[in-house]
Amino acid sequence: MVDKKMRSKAKGIVRPLTTKPIQPLSSNMYLFLFSVLFLSPTFLTVSEAVCNLQDQESLLWFSGNVSSSVSPLNWNMSIDCCSWEGITCDDSSDSHVTAISLPLRGLSGTLTTSVQNLQRLSHLDLSYNNLFGPLPSGFFSALDQLMVLNLSYNNFNGEFPLEESFENGSNRFFSIQTLDLSSNLLQGQVLRSSVFLQGAINLTSFNVSNNGFIGPIPSFMCTSSPQLSKLDFSYNDFGGHISQGLGKCLKLSVLRAGFNNLSGEIPSEIYKLSKLEQLFLPVNHLSGKIDDDITRLSKLTILDLHLNHLQGDIPVGIGNLTSLRILQLHINNLTGLIPLSLANCTSLVKLNLRVNQLRGSLTELDFSQFQSLSILDLGNNNFTGDFPNKVFFCKSLTAIRFAGNKLTGQISSQVRELESLSFMAVADNKLTNITDALSILQGCKKLSTLIMAKNFYDETVPGNEDFLAPDGFPKLQIFSIGGCQLKGEIPAWLIKLKSLEVIDLSLNRFEGLVPGWLGTLPNLFYIDLSDNLLSGELPKEIFQLRALMSQNTYDATEKNSFELPVFVNPNNVSRRSQLYNQLSSLPPAIYINRNNLIGTIPGEVGQLKVLHVLELLGNNLSGSIPDELSNLFNIERIDLSNNNLSGRIPWSLTSLYFMSYFNVANNTLEGTIPTGSQFDSFPVAYFQGNPLLCGGVLLTSCTSPTRPPSITADEEDDELKRTFVIGLVIGFFVSYVFYWCFFAMRHSRLSR
Ligand SMILES: *[C@@H]1O[C@H](CO)[C@@H](O)[C@H](O)[C@H]1NC(C)=O
Ligand SMILES: *[C@@H]1O[C@H](CO)[C@@H](O)[C@H](O)[C@H]1NC(C)=O
Ligand SMILES: *[C@@H]1O[C@H](CO)[C@@H](O)[C@H](O)[C@H]1NC(C)=O
Ligand SMILES: *[C@@H]1O[C@H](CO)[C@@H](O)[C@H](O)[C@H]1NC(C)=O
Ligand SMILES: *[C@@H]1O[C@H](CO)[C@@H](O)[C@H](O)[C@H]1NC(C)=O
Ligand SMILES: *[C@@H]1O[C@H](CO)[C@@H](O)[C@H](O)[C@H]1NC(C)=O
Ligand SMILES: *[C@@H]1O[C@H](CO)[C@@H](O)[C@H](O)[C@H]1NC(C)=O
Repeated sequence: MVDKKMRSKAKGIVRPLTTKPIQPLSSNMYLFLFSVLFLSPTFLTVSEAVCNLQDQESLLWFSGNVSSSVSPLNWNMSIDCCSWEGITCDDSSDSHVTAISLPLRGLSGTLTTSVQNLQRLSHLDLSYNNLFGPLPSGFFSALDQLMVLNLSYNNFNGEFPLEESFENGSNRFFSIQTLDLSSNLLQGQVLRSSVFLQGAINLTSFNVSNNGFIGPIPSFMCTSSPQLSKLDFSYNDFGGHISQGLGKCLKLSVLRAGFNNLSGEIPSEIYKLSKLEQLFLPVNHLSGKIDDDITRLSKLTILDLHLNHLQGDIPVGIGNLTSLRILQLHINNLTGLIPLSLANCTSLVKLNLRVNQLRGSLTELDFSQFQSLSILDLGNNNFTGDFPNKVFFCKSLTAIRFAGNKLTGQISSQVRELESLSFMAVADNKLTNITDALSILQGCKKLSTLIMAKNFYDETVPGNEDFLAPDGFPKLQIFSIGGCQLKGEIPAWLIKLKSLEVIDLSLNRFEGLVPGWLGTLPNLFYIDLSDNLLSGELPKEIFQLRALMSQNTYDATEKNSFELPVFVNPNNVSRRSQLYNQLSSLPPAIYINRNNLIGTIPGEVGQLKVLHVLELLGNNLSGSIPDELSNLFNIERIDLSNNNLSGRIPWSLTSLYFMSYFNVANNTLEGTIPTGSQFDSFPVAYFQGNPLLCGGVLLTSCTSPTRPPSITADEEDDELKRTFVIGLVIGFFVSYVFYWCFFAMRHSRLSR
């Protein structure tokens, strides 16, 4: 998941070791050292008193069990152990070790019981290393002076240590204040019977996120540790209802339990935690309403409940949460209107209410209050009425998404005042006047993603090159006006969009030729022209797209991650669309399905070595499938079905190891379907509707008299080769058996 990735990244960081320059000693200093070393009779005793011997031994035991990928721990006895790297001692006469701090030190190995013998240890930080194995039993209870323990970002596994209970049954108290075991491989339940947790009366911060813990979240901790202010249970497999108890954590400021399997309602006691600043419970199965009492949590800065099954209205008093910076309630089942009081949440930076059943007009909401708002997603709801042009008063906006609503009207020129706007998705609404929209939006200097599909029905796009100002759309990388039933030709001004990487013009009524100049756009790697009325031949220029010809050029195209996810629906509106979070996950692709293309597929297609998807189905292409397709060694998907292609399927295509889809149904192909590699696993449907195809997965014999006797030289060669290889194998086997029998017999005879 997200965190695991973050984690491996973090592990890649190698902190440069700080080396102190050695100061040259003055001659006076030498004299002083000399006298100390040789004249002072107390020298030896001083040296002995420096580091506690037992502690030194424990440290050496620890270091003996770990190795470092960075540089060895230079812990040796010729130096006072209190001066060892990462070690701090107290001021007592027998100098006990109080702190070990070795984060990001490339340490690998297990944590032995050695550390437990450091009786005065109060700080232990071994985060960002590669330590593994279980935490030794009795580990926590032995360290009763320990206040800060950070073992995060290691590979510790096993269960949360239970610790033995004590004979006299009396409670023991521990000094622990901060416990961070996050980003390890720990599992099992965090149990109430943990003697350590029961005695952790001063615990303020507990982080076990990003492990494999199961069972209920340990709400009971709030009884024994009333000082708790941060609890992080996220990214585990905690399940069931959120158990009672959290209400006792009156000082709680951070509660994170997102990305688990929690179900049931959000317990009402959570709404009493008046110090709460972060409530983070996304990606669970929580149901029920968001209680109106949530408005009591006036300190909240982060409220993230996205991807649950919450229903009911957004509490009317949400505007009381004036400190809110992040409000994410997307992908739930919320209904009703957006409360107008939301305008009082003036600190909002991120507001995401996507995929709910919210309704009503947005024109009443006073967006002008949101001066810090950077990301706004109200997509996939039932909003109606005019496009809320007041939203353009939020001058910090970088990303807006209103897609999938029923908004009408036009986009106002105010949008050009948003200096940071880089992402705008308004697809699937009822907006009108595309000429106006494009004239305005081309003035947005930072705009890199513009998705306006499924609006502007039946309008005509301005086509002439001059429509685009010389500095129009200077940063546009992704442009979609698919599914609008637009009329006219493919607009000529697109040729000026030199940053363009992805274009979707599908499901319109564009006529004329596929413009050759598309091939001149230096960064273009994804083209969808499907479902139009385009005619003529495939222009050769399109097979010269630089970003599709050279992996280096493709790799060099800018591939930022989107501020908000993009939903792509390759050439079929009714197909479930796919979500993309970054440009790099969109496949390099050419879709020109269901047009009126004629002529052949030029051999130049073989130049597009970067291409992953080629779909030309439902045209009237003729001629043969070019052998050069076998140069597309990155190809995963080829669809040439429903054309008028003839000739044989080239055997060379069997070398396309990534190809998992190859549909040539309903053409006039003939001859043997190749066998070997993935061709053996393709379904019959890929080849149907070609009466003269035989063999391969069709399992029909190619030697039937109805088949024209037209084995090409190529294939004969192939078959000859195979016969030759088989002959060779058999020959080898026969001679081996012969050899073995003969010599084995001889040997046995000799040994007699
Ligand atoms: C807990 O904290 C209090 C106040 O700082 C302190 O007096 C007490 O000794 C601590 N208890 C333990 C077990 O460390
Ligand atoms: C818990 O640890 C993770 C890293 O493993 C960190 O990202 C998160 O912010 C921590 N939680 C708290 C509340 O500090
Ligand atoms: C949303 O609510 C409707 C009706 O209340 C229900 O049928 C549907 O299953 C709910 N969806 C989710 C994702 O909870
Ligand atoms: C914002 O808060 C003020 C004062 O608390 C209140 O008078 C006003 O009605 C609120 N605005 C909205 C839109 O609710
Ligand atoms: C489109 O908008 C422009 C500017 O607002 C206006 O002049 C024009 O009449 C509109 N066109 C249509 C078809 O509504
Ligand atoms: C789109 O996909 C759906 C479901 O996969 C299919 O039924 C439909 O025929 C497709 N439409 C077109 C135009 O290909
Ligand atoms: C298919 O192509 C052949 C030539 O290869 C041509 O004679 C025939 O008319 C084409 N069929 C259609 C339906 O266009």
